[in-house]
Amino acid sequence: MAAQTLTMLGIETSCDETAAAVIRGYPDLSRRSGAVAERTPEILSDLVLSQFDAHRPYGGVVPEIAARAHILSLDRLIAAAVREAGCGWEGLDGVAATAGPGLIGGVMVGLVTGKAIAAARGIPLVGVNHLEGHALSARLVQKVAFPYLLLLVSGGHCQLLEVRGVGDYVRLGGSLDDAAGEAFDKTAKLLGLGFPGGPAVEQAARSGNPARFALPRPMLGRAGCDFSFSGLKTAVRHMVAGMPSMHGQDRADMAASFQAAVADVLVDRCRQAMAMFRARHVAAGHHLVVAGGVAANQMLRGAINVLCAQQNFILVTPPPGLCTDNAAMIGWAGIERLALGLSDPLDISARARWPLGSFSRSGAS
Ligand code: KG4
Ligand code: ZN
Repeated sequence: MAAQTLTMLGIETSCDETAAAVIRGYPDLSRRSGAVAERTPEILSDLVLSQFDAHRPYGGVVPEIAARAHILSLDRLIAAAVREAGCGWEGLDGVAATAGPGLIGGVMVGLVTGKAIAAARGIPLVGVNHLEGHALSARLVQKVAFPYLLLLVSGGHCQLLEVRGVGDYVRLGGSLDDAAGEAFDKTAKLLGLGFPGGPAVEQAARSGNPARFALPRPMLGRAGCDFSFSGLKTAVRHMVAGMPSMHGQDRADMAASFQAAVADVLVDRCRQAMAMFRARHVAAGHHLVVAGGVAANQMLRGAINVLCAQQNFILVTPPPGLCTDNAAMIGWAGIERLALGLSDPLDISARARWPLGSFSRSGAS
């Protein structure tokens, strides 16, 4: 049977990356529950313009600067993505734009641009939840069937979810305070490592001793799957304040000690979630997908990989460029939705907050 083809423009503007991509998918027309596409999707173009330089003087993302930067570059970036894809505007079957959650000014810029293209071309619009983009990104690169376990670790989010299907998520636990990426960014700031913090901490940690500083492991061994990172960040601050001066090796050792603490906590929480997942899905294959910007961290990937081997889970991590914010995952989420007949009216609103999934502590959902 010939596969149905969908070519989708994806637009991402929810934080400090302006991104546009064109994805071609071959969704399984039968769409049985848990089905995967017959053919691997193709990323025809995938452009990301990071605003790091604009935000660096402030040590973090400034919402107004981000929104203005999206306005300045989005049109040209989309045109370049369509040109590079070689499909032409007439080759697009739909437009998928992030509709939230995120910095509202930026989300509005991307969504209104998506609406304008959908209206001008007479093609459907899909307003994508940014978190769903991360959640489904693994299926863009690998044939992963539903249900699977997802660790979503980014700058704004740290959650463990059961992904049962498109639009069908059960939240097993999440951070009670800071997200893991936020903790990386704040630690980098405390150590004077610059912005963005995650890659800087990972780089510094490569030459550091992870056993030098005894940092706390919040929530370790606790029941459930919740996280907490603010105590860890505070401990780093106190230790840094207590040192008369910090040299390169001190910074490297602190970065490595911090990263080791985050790894221990993530591994422990994932182990809890695996037990919950296994109890509910006895017959299903056991996959753990790790997505979001922090999933780009090689040391954390390694630690989670060891856990997966112990627990008989298959680890799926999208390549680093698909872990940090990008439009390919938004285009792909749009294809997954459109293949199920799901699209949105042109009057949908941008949303600053938009949680993914119902909440489950007990296992009922
Ligand atoms: O998914 P993402 O690009 O944006 C959000 O939706 O938040 O994630 C960005 C976060 C930032 O906090 C950044 O410092 C972190 O991901 N990050 C990393 C690494 N690369 C990015 N954290 C640790 N190690 C990395 N290599
Ligand atoms: Zn993200």
